Amino acid sequence: MFVRLPLAAAGLVALANYVLADVDCNTSITIGNATDAEEVRKACKVIRGDVRLTEQLLDTINLDGVEEIYGDLTHYGCDPAAIIRCKNFPKGPLEFSSSTLKKVNGSINFMTYNNLEKLSLPNLSYVWSEFAVQDTTSLKEMDLTNLESVSSFELGTTNLEKLHINGIKELLPESGYTGGIYLNNAGKLDNVDAFFENPINTSEIPTWTPGKGLLLNPPALRNVRTLNLGWTAMDKFEVWGTNLTIVLGGPETKSISYKEVILHGGVLGIQRADNLENLHVGKFRLDTDHDITDLTLPFDTVDSITLFNSSKLRSVNLPSQAENWKNLSLTISGCGSLKLESENGADSKKTWYWPKSSMASVNITSNVSTSFFDSFIANNVEVTQSFSVSDASGKLDCDIFANRTLPSGYTCDKKGSGARILMSTWTIVAAPVALMYILV
Ligand SMILES: *[C@@H]1O[C@H](CO)[C@@H](O)[C@H](O)[C@H]1NC(C)=O
Ligand SMILES: *[C@@H]1O[C@H](CO)[C@@H](O)[C@H](O)[C@H]1NC(C)=O
Ligand SMILES: *[C@@H]1O[C@H](CO)[C@@H](O)[C@H](O)[C@H]1NC(C)=O
Ligand SMILES: *[C@@H]1O[C@H](CO)[C@@H](O)[C@H](O)[C@H]1NC(C)=O
Ligand SMILES: *[C@@H]1O[C@H](CO)[C@@H](O)[C@H](O)[C@H]1NC(C)=O
Ligand SMILES: *[C@@H]1O[C@H](CO)[C@@H](O)[C@H](O)[C@H]1NC(C)=O
Ligand SMILES: *[C@@H]1O[C@H](CO)[C@@H](O)[C@H](O)[C@H]1NC(C)=O
Ligand SMILES: *[C@@H]1O[C@H](CO)[C@@H](O)[C@H](O)[C@H]1NC(C)=O
Ligand SMILES: *[C@@H]1O[C@H](CO)[C@@H](O)[C@H](O)[C@H]1NC(C)=O
Ligand SMILES: *[C@@H]1O[C@H](CO)[C@@H](O)[C@H](O)[C@H]1NC(C)=O
Ligand SMILES: *[C@@H]1O[C@H](CO)[C@@H](O)[C@H](O)[C@H]1NC(C)=O
Repeated sequence: MFVRLPLAAAGLVALANYVLADVDCNTSITIGNATDAEEVRKACKVIRGDVRLTEQLLDTINLDGVEEIYGDLTHYGCDPAAIIRCKNFPKGPLEFSSSTLKKVNGSINFMTYNNLEKLSLPNLSYVWSEFAVQDTTSLKEMDLTNLESVSSFELGTTNLEKLHINGIKELLPESGYTGGIYLNNAGKLDNVDAFFENPINTSEIPTWTPGKGLLLNPPALRNVRTLNLGWTAMDKFEVWGTNLTIVLGGPETKSISYKEVILHGGVLGIQRADNLENLHVGKFRLDTDHDITDLTLPFDTVDSITLFNSSKLRSVNLPSQAENWKNLSLTISGCGSLKLESENGADSKKTWYWPKSSMASVNITSNVSTSFFDSFIANNVEVTQSFSVSDASGKLDCDIFANRTLPSGYTCDKKGSGARILMSTWTIVAAPVALMYILV
């Protein structure tokens, strides 16, 4: 994803470039210990070059006084593969801090920063390129209170407990990085909203790669129970969690439009924030989530709904707006606990609304009863592209689909009847057309 300096090369550069007591703030600077750092911070408000920490850094580093770095700020520490070259590993706990640093006009890369427990850059607001903190297993606390503009932010750390940050407001395109937030592992954090709650519209980022979205893989959010997502537009949002509820919307987000939303294992639900006025999702997909039991879809509009292989799913609630959804594609299969018995829930409140205008397709393999289709039949909903219903409960009367405006070759079958019924095109309801029942 990101270009990384080979560790060996970084080490060699470091040796060749040691800082002299007479610090030249107009070139790149290498810091090997706390004394170096002190000389630099006393001499330089602005460093017109890179700041590199040596591979075998053993000290806590403080850069109070430095306000701006024109280039990169980097530390590539000794990884286990470099154990022979790196004779001394830091004892820790180490800190890296600067209360004055405001702007880094390059990238910040802290990779394998051994024994770093605290990273404190509370006044930093702007990082022109990427900001990546990876393989810092000791890291417990980060203070990035004012960080709001980065091209991309990457975090991979297992023990982080505290993060102070008001919120990322923009993903900068200028460096040419495609940008993004990559939470490979958010450690023990129970809240990562600061990265996601502001109204960022990825369609407005010129370097954003079409199709790219936000991917939160299984370990990323293991202690997060609620994720507030306020980005206004993106192509794809895909997430795994642990007892995680997604809330769409943010304090300043009025409208959300995502092309694709995919929920996987460990997600318990998707909700909308009270102040969100408009919510559109192109394709919604629940795919192999074995924790969710009751799914309520909060969308104003959606083009397709796919529910796959989610073993604990018992109920699906659609909002009443569903009656206005146009050209919906609906697919349900592999959800063995789901009973599509009626359009009403347990307390006989209406929980399912069939669209009133025509649908693109219906493809259901489930335990499904005749009354689940009551208003579908009553409104004679037209389905234009494909229609296929397979009932395992034996409670579906396939005859209800005769004389409906369904596509040619639609299928309906139910357990027990031993029959698969293939039906020919039904064109106009009023005109009598012979039906063909083909038994297979
Ligand atoms: C710090 O590193 C510099 C070289 O970068 C070296 O000259 C100096 O002796 C070191 N000081 C300490 C206290 O280790
Ligand atoms: C460093 O660069 C600045 C701006 O280019 C210049 O004003 C200053 O004289 C330079 N200092 C040294 C020591 O070269
Ligand atoms: C942080 O930045 C602000 C705004 O530039 C400045 O006024 C303030 O003095 C800085 N704080 C520190 C500790 O340098
Ligand atoms: C930041 O870096 C970019 C690219 O190197 C450069 O075009 C721009 O002028 C720099 N801005 C500042 C304030 O140094
Ligand atoms: C996102 O930006 C695009 C391009 O400017 C715009 O067409 C779209 O309406 C925006 N979406 C939202 C939800 O603000
Ligand atoms: C997730 O929730 C379930 C049901 O409340 C609970 O049994 C389980 O321990 C939770 N898992 C975690 C990791 O918190
Ligand atoms: C659902 O599970 C079945 C059986 O394990 C598998 O064949 C199928 O590919 C899965 N479907 C999806 C969409 O993952
Ligand atoms: C309806 O949805 C189907 C399937 O996604 C698509 O192929 C078709 O173009 C859509 N029709 C209209 C009129 O949008
Ligand atoms: C129907 O329900 C039974 C038990 O309630 C379940 O085992 C089976 O997987 C369900 N069938 C489908 C197609 O969901
Ligand atoms: C319906 O869904 C099943 C299971 O995912 C799939 O095998 C089948 O091809 C689909 N049928 C249509 C007509 O889309
Ligand atoms: C379908 O329509 C024809 C002609 O109106 C009628 O004879 C037949 O009973 C209808 N079938 C069903 C299942 O409603």
